[in-house]
Amino acid sequence: MQWKRRLVIGVLSLVALSGCATTGEQMAMQEKSLYDRLGGKPAITAVVDDFVARVAADRRINRFFANTDVPPFKAKLVDQICEASGGPCKYTGKDMKTAHAGMGVANADFDALVEDLVTTLDKFKVPAKEKGELLGVLGPMRKDIVSK
Ligand code: HEM
Repeated sequence: MQWKRRLVIGVLSLVALSGCATTGEQMAMQEKSLYDRLGGKPAITAVVDDFVARVAADRRINRFFANTDVPPFKAKLVDQICEASGGPCKYTGKDMKTAHAGMGVANADFDALVEDLVTTLDKFKVPAKEKGELLGVLGPMRKDIVSK
């Protein structure tokens, strides 16, 4: 009977080992979400804080935000970036077309805002790959935001 027990243990070990190997392989192949690579919600919140302060100080575009209630605006931006990067948040603000309707945002204004964001991402040493991916998510929103 001893050999039977050994056989059962042997087979079970093999099954367990091959199970681990598969899981490990899958883990290695599945890249983390952009949200995770950015550092999750704390990192996104820090980025939005710095970015909004930069926009508020940017004389090229800060007139647009003269009447903005900053804390809820920041919270919406965090949720939007969190969701768009694959995080667990749900953005419940307006769609980009409605949110920017009638503001008269020009391409130059959009470029200025992106420049401020890039300065923030560089300050936080966000790697080129993640920076490119985030800008790749936001860039296509230009057509809904620019109206001039
Ligand atoms: C990819 C670029 C941009 C993103 C992701 C973005 C995102 C947002 C979001 C999430 C809101 C809040 C919507 C809501 O209240 O439900 C918002 C509002 C607003 N955005 Fe943008 N925006 C972008 C570009 C711009 C640009 C270029 C300007 C002007 C220079 C601008 C000016 C504003 C203003 C003035 C508001 C209203 C803020 C308030 O007073 O509540 N946005 N935007």
